[in-house]
Amino acid sequence: FDGRNITLWKYESFIPVERRVSLNEGGTPLYRLENLQKELGIVELYVKNEGANPTGSFKDRGMTVGVSKALELGMDKVICASTGNTSASLAAYSAKAGIKSYVLVPSGKIALGKLAQAIVYGAKVVPVKGNFDDALRVVVKASRELGVYMLNSINPFRLEGQKTIAFEIFDQLGFVPDNIILPVGNAGNISAIWKGFKELFQAGFIDELPRMIGIQAEGASPLAKAWKEKKEFKPEEKPDTVATAIRIGNPANWRKAWLAAEESKGFFESVSDEEILRAQKLLASKEGIFVEPASASSLAGLVKLKELDLINSDESYVLITTGHGLKDPNIIIENFSLSEPIEPTLSAFKEVL
Ligand code: F0G
Repeated sequence: FDGRNITLWKYESFIPVERRVSLNEGGTPLYRLENLQKELGIVELYVKNEGANPTGSFKDRGMTVGVSKALELGMDKVICASTGNTSASLAAYSAKAGIKSYVLVPSGKIALGKLAQAIVYGAKVVPVKGNFDDALRVVVKASRELGVYMLNSINPFRLEGQKTIAFEIFDQLGFVPDNIILPVGNAGNISAIWKGFKELFQAGFIDELPRMIGIQAEGASPLAKAWKEKKEFKPEEKPDTVATAIRIGNPANWRKAWLAAEESKGFFESVSDEEILRAQKLLASKEGIFVEPASASSLAGLVKLKELDLINSDESYVLITTGHGLKDPNIIIENFSLSEPIEPTLSAFKEVL
C-alpha cells in the first residue's frame, strides 16, 4: 500500500520484478542551493537528498527491488557485507518481508546509528576482523556455497532500483542537468544512475546525457588514482577515511563505474578528510541539509574542482547526498565542545545574547 506517497514504484515499468516489498522509498527532495550558489559562484546548483529515504540512505532504492527479487526466487535468507548503510537497509526490508538477514560489517568501523538500525530491525550482525573488502569476499563465497541470497551491489537488481535516482532528477528538474556529482565507494551507485539516464535516453524521453563525476575519499581512492594518473586500476590495500561509508579499497563495480565516467565524459576526483568535514559543515550551516561525511564528499568535490578551475560556472550541477547526517553524530560531537552551562535566569541568557 503506497497511500498517496510518491515512491520509486512510479517507474515500475522500468523495474524488472513482480513482487513488491516496499517502505515507500524514493520520491526524495531535490533542493536548489540558493545560498551556496552565490557563495561558490555557480549559476545552477542542486542537491538530491537521498538521506530522506526510509532508513536514511539511497540503499533503500536498491533493497526494495533486491529483497522483492529474493522473495520471488523463494529465498528465505539474505546476506550483505556493509560499511553500514546497506546493512541497515537490508535489515529493514528483510524485516518487512519476513525473512532472515545476515550483515557482515568491519569491526569497529561502522557509524553508531547504522549499527543501531541493523540491530533494531532484527538482522544478525556479524562483525568481521578486517575491512569491507574482506567482508565482501566472505559474503560472495557464502552466497555461492551456503544458499543465502547476496544483496550487495554486484547483485544487478540493486542497481535496477538505484537507477530511479536518474528518473527522479529528470522528473523534478524537467531537464537533464549537465553534471551529476556523487560519492563513490563500492561504485554501484554511479553505475546505476548512469544506467538510469541511458534508459531514459533509449526510451526517447531525453536527448542529452549528464556528465558523471565520481568523488572518492583520498585514503580510499583507487578509481580516482588510476583515472588521474592514467594507470591501470589497482585496489587500495589499506583504505582509510573518516567517511566510513566509502572506506573501500577494492570497489566491486569499478569496471562499470569506469565505463560510466568514460561514456559520459565525466571523471573521478578525490578529496581529503578535512575537505569532506568542511563540506559537511558548509551544507548544514548554509542550506540546512545535514548529511553524513561520505555524502558530503560530493560537495567537497565540487568545491575542490571550483578551486582548481575545472568547473564551468554556467553549467548545472546536481550533487547526490547519499546518507543522513544523524547516522553518524559522533563525527560532529567529537570535534565540538559545548560552552559552560549557564544559570537558569534571564540575566544569564542576556549575556549570551
Ligand atoms: N554514500 C554512502 C552514504 C554510502 O553508504 C555508500 C556506500 C556510498 C556513498 C557509495 O556508494 O558503494 O554505490 O559507490 N555504502 C555501502 C554500504 C558500501 O555498505 O553501506 P557506492
